[in-house]
Amino acid sequence: MDNFNFHNPTKILFGKGKIADISKEIPKQSKVLVTFGGGSIKKNGVYDQVKDALSGYSWYSFGGIEPNPRYETLMKAVEKIREENFDYLLAVGGGSVIDGTKFIAAAVNYEGDDPWQIIKSRAKFSDALPFGSVLTLPATGSEMNAGAVVTHGATQEKLPFGNPQLYPKFSVLDPTVTATLPEKQAANGVVDAFVHVIEQYMNYDNGYRLQQYFAESILKTLIEKGPAYYKDPSDYESAANIMWCSTMALNGLIGAGVPQDWSTHMIGHELTAFHEIDHARTLAIVLPGTWKVMREQKKERLVQYAENVWDIRQGSEEEKIEQAVEKTEQFFHALGIKTRLSDYNVGNDTVGKIVERMSQRNWKLGESGLVTPDKVKLILEARA
Ligand code: NZQ
Ligand code: ZN
Repeated sequence: MDNFNFHNPTKILFGKGKIADISKEIPKQSKVLVTFGGGSIKKNGVYDQVKDALSGYSWYSFGGIEPNPRYETLMKAVEKIREENFDYLLAVGGGSVIDGTKFIAAAVNYEGDDPWQIIKSRAKFSDALPFGSVLTLPATGSEMNAGAVVTHGATQEKLPFGNPQLYPKFSVLDPTVTATLPEKQAANGVVDAFVHVIEQYMNYDNGYRLQQYFAESILKTLIEKGPAYYKDPSDYESAANIMWCSTMALNGLIGAGVPQDWSTHMIGHELTAFHEIDHARTLAIVLPGTWKVMREQKKERLVQYAENVWDIRQGSEEEKIEQAVEKTEQFFHALGIKTRLSDYNVGNDTVGKIVERMSQRNWKLGESGLVTPDKVKLILEARA
């Protein structure tokens, strides 16, 4: 197992009615900016609960953060904060709102001319604003990690960044808020969490046994509870399981000391950048391709995945892998998620653009840097 430091400072408030407790977490003298998305929180009562919890605070709200949050929109919030001296942020929404709020928190006190460089060239920033979150869509794990993904509308770039200053101070995980999720978003969340686990699990072995077993237990829970949650996200027990799975999938625990892949995500981000396909759907398209092209490198873990996660005991190693890949795709299909580029009208021209971009950036992805642009081409061609 590789050396690691593990420090996750985000406090989790989990369960029914927990939104009321945010007042115990935000210092009373704070001037709070509540950030949110396209308005779902105003229809499902979450906004009202936040409003009640913030009674007595000086606060204002900033809505309109879109899915795959845009740099251009986020900079409007940055300007507002600079003008009116807000000093605490509260993100209320899914991964896009929380990610967008992380960028806002980083950009407010950034002294350079072009805050996009915080993402593009990892420009240093200090004094990020403190923030908390109220999660409304279990999926990304953003509520308990220090990473974010932001899209630059003008250049069609979708890029990740992260910094230890960007852990939420606290996050409220109240599974009742998922009741109003459209089926499509509930399914996206399950698949995103699933692939987060896979990116940290489907790698070469460096002796990280406990992390493998943690990962397998999250995958099995997602497989067991995902379909019921997809059919009815108001079912508290499934929603609670899915919510905690998605947080645990990407809060650093299962990835500590482990070689990590993330090539499926990086390729997926390009599909979203060019075609606005939902993040999780891009992962469901790319993942079987990654497994096909990188099968030799991942063979040992793929067999373990077949046996421990899908309980496939019969057949040769190759047959077990084949069955596990098939079962994974069936799992995505059962959640209403299509897994081919042609299902989303993505043609060869986009594959060419993605490969060219990756060559320009000199990206070598994957746990061993073996996913080079020529491999990306094969991965995407396998998913036509
Ligand atoms: O904007 P509103 O009106 O709130 O509606 C949202 C949005 O349209 C809706 N929604 C959220 N909660 C709801 C709800 N509708 C009804 N009831 C509720 N309770 O769902 C839609 C999608 O929301 P979004 O936040 O975009 O989804 P998700 O949480 O899947 O986030 C996706 C973003 O996170 C990034 C992705 O790249 C993408 O930009 N990721 C962030 C990561 C991280 N920070 O660690 C890791 C991930 O791999 C991912 O890349
Ligand atoms: Zn993801």
